[in-house]
Amino acid sequence: MILIFLGPPGAGKGTQAQHIASTRGIPQLSTGDMLRGAVAAETPIGLKAKAVMDRGDLVSDDIVAGIVAERIEEPDCEPGFLLDGFPRTLPQAEMLDELLERAGRKLEIVLELQVDEEALVDRLNSRIAETKAAGGEVRADDNEETFRKRLEVYREQTAPLIPYYEGKGLLKAVDGMATIQEVSAQIDKELDSLS
Ligand code: AP5
Repeated sequence: MILIFLGPPGAGKGTQAQHIASTRGIPQLSTGDMLRGAVAAETPIGLKAKAVMDRGDLVSDDIVAGIVAERIEEPDCEPGFLLDGFPRTLPQAEMLDELLERAGRKLEIVLELQVDEEALVDRLNSRIAETKAAGGEVRADDNEETFRKRLEVYREQTAPLIPYYEGKGLLKAVDGMATIQEVSAQIDKELDSLS
C-alpha cells in the first residue's frame, strides 16, 4: 500500500501517520523529519535547508525528491509506505509519479486532512506547550509568525495538489476536526475499503 497524507501544518498528518505505520506495518516517510535529521547532523543538505525551514518556506523540489527517491529504494518500503509531507508542490507530485512508474508501483490513495485554520493555530500552541512541559526542544519553525507563513505556503503551493489528485480519482477527504481517535477510525475505514 502506497499512500499520501495531505493537509496544512498542524492538521494531524504526523499523528495519523504513526497510527497507520503501526497498524499496517508500513514505514512513515516524513520529509519534515528527514530534513530536521539532516539539519541536526549538519549534513550538506541540512546546512542548505536550515534557513529555508526556519522561515517557513519550502526546501527545493530537487533536494526533497532526491531524499525520497533514495528512501523508497530501501527494503522496508517493499510492502508499501506512507508519505507524510511529500509531495508539497506540483513538480514534486510529478516527480513522484515518475519515480513510481519507473519502479512499476502504484499510488493507491491520497488522504486530505481538513482542519479549520484557527484550530490549526490552537494545535500549534498546544504542541509548543506540551513539548516545553516534557522538557523537549520546540521546533525552530513552531512559532506563530512562521506558522502563519507555513499556512500561506500551503495555500499557495500545496493546495493545488488537491485538484491534481482529485483528477486522478485518488483523493479522499477526511474530517480532521474530529478527535484523534475518530480521525483514525475514518482513515481505517477508507483504507479497509481499498482491500
Ligand atoms: P513538516 O515537518 O512536514 O511540518 P508540517 O507539514 O508543517 O506539519 P506539522 O508537523 O507541523 O503538523 P502535522 O500535520 O504533522 O500535525 P501533527 O500530527 O504534528 O515540514 C516542516 C518543514 O520542512 C516545512 O515547512 C518545509 O520547510 C520542510 N519540508 C518538509 N517537507 C517538504 C517538502 N516535501 N518540500 C519542501 N520542503 C519540505 O499535529 C499537530 C498537533 O495537533 C499535535 O500537538 C497533535 O497532538 C495535535 N492533534 C493532531 N490531531 C488532532 C486532533 N484530531 N484533535 C486535536 N489535536 C490534534
